[in-house]
Amino acid sequence: MTVMDRSTTVLIFEAPVGSGLYRDALRLREDILRRPLGLTVSSEELADDTMRQHFCAVDCGAVVGTVSLRPLDETTLHLKQMAVVEPKRAARVGSRLVAHVERWGTSAGFRLMVAHARVGAEGFYLKHGYAQEGAAFFEQTIPHVRVTKRLK
Ligand SMILES: CC(C)(COP(=O)(O)OP(=O)(O)OC[C@H]1O[C@@H](n2cnc3c(N)ncnc32)[C@H](O)[C@@H]1OP(=O)(O)O)[C@@H](O)C(=O)NCCC(=O)NCCS
Repeated sequence: MTVMDRSTTVLIFEAPVGSGLYRDALRLREDILRRPLGLTVSSEELADDTMRQHFCAVDCGAVVGTVSLRPLDETTLHLKQMAVVEPKRAARVGSRLVAHVERWGTSAGFRLMVAHARVGAEGFYLKHGYAQEGAAFFEQTIPHVRVTKRLK
């Protein structure tokens, strides 16, 4: 039996701050990660964006997923703002984004990826070889857990 990978038409691009892709990814972040919590992307977050590397998944010209990386030090990257639009979930778009940024981090010389996973979404990271560390904590008004993965 042939299993169709529904993410095959999706391409991953870097989305530099100020680009059209970045603006679309920001809108997606706002819609998926902030508005349902009654929040908005803050001015502090926008300022922090200038220190991050942004990536997006594009399907037929539309941004359908996004993720950002923030260097914490010379060896560690913080994976942030992982989101996929609802109609494209469970189609491995998130997996493609994670694999892409891990390769990006490795080739840039980073050794460790850290993420704050929303409680309920941590299973996604565990499936990708991340380990949960410590107790849950609150961020953006909801519980999160820290997950980490050594980059090869
Ligand atoms: C979490 C999210 C990014 C996953 O993206 P996705 O494209 O739907 O995930 P994939 O299709 O690549 O899933 C890969 C695997 O992770 C699993 N998975 C996906 N979301 C999961 C979740 N919330 N909890 C547990 N496992 C999950 C899938 O079942 C799949 O497992 P399999 O390999 O056994 O088939 C997406 O559901 C999303 O945007 N959710 C809302 C925002 C959010 O919670 N972001 C994370 C913030 S930390």
